[in-house]
Amino acid sequence: MINPFKPARALIRGVQKETYDTTTYTLSFEDARVREEFAFQPGQFNMITLFGIGEAPVSISSDPDEGPTFQHTVRHVGNVTKALARLKVGDAVGVRGAYGTGWPMELLRGRNVLIVAGGIGLAPLRPVITQILRQRRDFGRVELLYGARTPADMLYTPQFPRWQEEIKLYQAVDVVPDGYSWEQRVGVVTTLFGEMESQPADTIVLTCGPEIMMKFVVKDLLTRGFLSDQIYVSLERRMSCGVKKCGKCQIGPKFVCRDGPVFAYAELMGLSEGVLGGVAG
Ligand SMILES: Cc1cc2nc3c(=O)[nH]c(=O)nc-3n(C[C@H](O)[C@H](O)[C@H](O)COP(=O)(O)OP(=O)(O)OC[C@H]3O[C@@H](n4cnc5c(N)ncnc54)[C@H](O)[C@@H]3O)c2cc1C
Ligand code: FES
Repeated sequence: MINPFKPARALIRGVQKETYDTTTYTLSFEDARVREEFAFQPGQFNMITLFGIGEAPVSISSDPDEGPTFQHTVRHVGNVTKALARLKVGDAVGVRGAYGTGWPMELLRGRNVLIVAGGIGLAPLRPVITQILRQRRDFGRVELLYGARTPADMLYTPQFPRWQEEIKLYQAVDVVPDGYSWEQRVGVVTTLFGEMESQPADTIVLTCGPEIMMKFVVKDLLTRGFLSDQIYVSLERRMSCGVKKCGKCQIGPKFVCRDGPVFAYAELMGLSEGVLGGVAG
């Protein structure tokens, strides 16, 4: 991107309601040069500006190979994201990025992959899944464990049948409210570990979701024999600059906006803040 501090105008090309509080936006840059220059890796994020309101970091939820448009899946929780809910096709937002580290796609090639996602945490993992589907023979066994609060909170469910043709999908919800039918597991996402086939040998784990979920995911995987450098997590911290200038996202020596958001768990273990239950240094 030409100026990392200056958002470029992007137009909303599509609006897809995913759940009662979450929407996927398809965007493309107005300026042809920015559109051509823009590139990203699965797992990276953009800073999205709502003019006159503010800015928020949001993961890119689409596949880099599906350009020149890109997508963001947004849960409407606060100032910026609720204002976004009022916009429609043709409206403009500001976008700067793509920022941060991506998932280790090259490391996944030729290996088994275990993906563990919670709630909106599936958004930054969706491009990993679609890339795997496109080049399925390049990867070994691929399993996706997905947990959400209720069946109504599950993202991308219309895409599940296609995903299940190529990868194994296990689903869990915390609770099933009255009036819902649910034939999958009820419980936290780690209860699905008992059903999966994934073993530590030659497997890389990618996980994203609420920090408390990732803490238990990591803890459980370590007791199952997975090593800290086999587990990749995507962290969320409040951000301002997005480019390692303001220090807002700092955890000890690490800047989540630049050194992350994707980290090997091994990188986080010695941090004094004890991120995800890691040993405090
Ligand atoms: C790398 C990265 C990727 C992300 N990807 C996505 C994504 O794909 N989709 C998505 O929906 N979200 C994503 N997020 C989260 C998103 O950036 C936040 O939810 C952001 O705060 C939304 O901005 P907002 O202005 O709408 O909400 P805010 O007005 O900032 O409020 C958001 C929530 O945080 C609370 N809050 C407000 N201020 C504080 C504070 N100082 N400390 C603690 N809590 C506070 C509010 O009460 C509210 O519940 C991502 C965040 C990061 C860092
Ligand atoms: S958000 Fe400013 S340093 Fe990371």
